[in-house]
Amino acid sequence: MTTLAALQDPGLRADPYPLYHLLREQTPMPINDGAAVVVGRYADAQRVLKDTTLSSRLQDVLPEEADRNHSFLLLDPPDHTRLRRLVAKAFTPRAIASLEQRIERLVREAFTTAAERGSIDFAEDLAYPLPVTVISEWLGVPTGDGARLRQWSQYLTRAFDFGVEPEERAAIDVAYRELDAYFRELVAHRRRHRSDDLLSRLIEAEEQGDRLTPDELVATLGLLLNAGHETTSNLLSNGVLALLRHPGELARLRADPGLAPATVEEVLRFDPPVQLLGRVTREPRTVAGVELPARAWVIVLIGAANRDPVHFPDPDRFSVDRAGAPHLAFSLGPHFCLGSSLARLEARVLFREFATRVRNPELDPESVRYRRHVNLRGPESMVVGFDSFDG
Ligand code: HEM
Repeated sequence: MTTLAALQDPGLRADPYPLYHLLREQTPMPINDGAAVVVGRYADAQRVLKDTTLSSRLQDVLPEEADRNHSFLLLDPPDHTRLRRLVAKAFTPRAIASLEQRIERLVREAFTTAAERGSIDFAEDLAYPLPVTVISEWLGVPTGDGARLRQWSQYLTRAFDFGVEPEERAAIDVAYRELDAYFRELVAHRRRHRSDDLLSRLIEAEEQGDRLTPDELVATLGLLLNAGHETTSNLLSNGVLALLRHPGELARLRADPGLAPATVEEVLRFDPPVQLLGRVTREPRTVAGVELPARAWVIVLIGAANRDPVHFPDPDRFSVDRAGAPHLAFSLGPHFCLGSSLARLEARVLFREFATRVRNPELDPESVRYRRHVNLRGPESMVVGFDSFDG
């Protein structure tokens, strides 16, 4: 029997998909003496994510998380509905589209600088800084604080991951506290010096009364900053890696840049940045045919569901114009990713620029190193040599 714990094997980071295929075949799979269930089939994953009777309050079953994370990602109605609605107002198609030129400029600058060296560590020099810069500028978080934010964020993204040892738990604690203090200072400063950014608009909402408390404001800021870049950077790297490993597909995108939006969807299916999602039962009940007690975990394997052959023929094939079932990379239901249009825009611009302007790109296979996370998936290093950039 293959167990979920096998996903923690560092040797599997490069390619966990054979294991996901095995795991999916065994799901729905009760684990922890029946106190949790793993779902990996597309149809089960879809049903679980849409099921509003399951809770997103993972902190309720992880005692060390109980007091520190109040972001609406981890809340249920009515608080989830109220906070999400407030923030969703900012994510209008027009607001997102207005970021396109800035994204394009950042991509071109990075490749132009790297062209002098003839190579780029794509993960480090572009996929990470691009989404951080975009979300920080939009929110109104000083981009000069990037190094500190990166350190904190590396710990925060491990808070709900597998295999976190006590020392790391302590470091995660420190990161939460420091980031909280940083945000409180930033909010206090922006209260006195308003600007044309998202943070200023959230402060206005808070000051108008009961729509957002000061704690919720800080938690929302943290959610947008973190969700806005850790995942998108993986999408960008996973995509460029897939294109370099499938030169025929890269050539098709180069010949027809109109395929960029479909390429983005295929990367999200083929190698999703978020590999696992969790839900919690509120009362004893059956999920995917498995009887569970109250406060039981339901673990959804997005990485397995997105390659379910029942919904995706020849699921291990990367094809930039695959049509058919929608992937689950952005989740479904009430918590469907609020920033999906921004993530899609960044990836669309980047894949188009990469395919059409970077001459003779070549991956150094030895340089590809993955982050150790199980829940978030993407390389932390990947060096790409190239002849020139048509800037
Ligand atoms: C490729 C990039 C991204 C991926 C794969 C991704 C994935 C996800 C997933 C899977 C969820 C749902 C979690 C659940 O159902 O429990 C989610 C929620 C969320 N995402 Fe994203 N995300 C991405 C980019 C972004 C960006 C760029 C932003 C913001 C600018 C963002 C903001 C959010 C927010 C605010 C939520 C919480 C929604 C809620 O709980 O109602 N995400 N994201």
